Amino acid sequence: MSVAEMNSDGRPGARTFMVWDPVVRLIHWGVALTVLLNGAITEEDGITHEWVGYVGAGLVVTRLVWGLIGTRYARFTAFWPSISRARQYLESLRRGDRTVHLAHNPLGTLMVYNMWATVLFLGLTGYLMTTPAFFGSFWVEGLHALAFNWLVLCVIVHVAAVIYDTRRSGVNLVRAMIDGRKHVPEDRPIE
Ligand code: HEM
Ligand code: HEM
Repeated sequence: MSVAEMNSDGRPGARTFMVWDPVVRLIHWGVALTVLLNGAITEEDGITHEWVGYVGAGLVVTRLVWGLIGTRYARFTAFWPSISRARQYLESLRRGDRTVHLAHNPLGTLMVYNMWATVLFLGLTGYLMTTPAFFGSFWVEGLHALAFNWLVLCVIVHVAAVIYDTRRSGVNLVRAMIDGRKHVPEDRPIE
């Protein structure tokens, strides 16, 4: 029996799918926490900042491995990036389509890979600043700060998109990132 079909909690009028396993959920909220800590709380050139940053980057690396060996919807095969699919998805939004994507939707997929890459880039530029070759380097510092500002912008768009897609699809996406389950209303097509 597949993970997706196994679970129905019997709520009337809802179809329930177990989509996000505990590894995906823990890593999601863990990465978000490290970004929050390093962006707003830790001292920017202190040792705590460095370790929190490495934990964030390490969580992303773990998630990338999980994308190869993890459960059905955690795998890259469930959300392969494609510009043309993202365009088609945008078109479908204009038509008022209410299809539910059990993994990430095609536009969300592009954002997800982009946010992972940005956190890894923060880890890399952060590390470089600690090496003798780049210590005090103006441009590495600049790239680190630029990457952070880009990430903040992306997170704002990400959260807005989650709210939008929750309304559009009728599926509470934040709840799914907490308990792993997407409850899909009866009248919504599933992809
Ligand atoms: C620094 C903050 C954040 C970062 C870097 C971030 C990044 C990500 C990433 C990389 C994913 C893909 C997860 C995976 O497949 O493993 C994701 C998914 C998701 N995030 Fe965030 N996130 C952040 C904050 C938030 C917040 C505050 C919320 C709550 C509103 C949120 C809600 C979600 C949801 C609901 C999904 C799944 C979307 C779907 O069903 O396709 N995220 N996020
Ligand atoms: C989630 C990962 C990370 C985030 C979100 C983050 C965020 C930030 C931010 C917002 C600043 C202030 C930038 C400015 O306006 O000047 C900063 C500075 C700095 N970060 Fe990170 N960082 C991360 C990872 C790391 C890592 C892994 C290291 C080192 C191992 C590191 C080392 C530094 C240093 C040395 C500075 C001070 C640069 C200066 O002197 O202005 N960061 N970081």
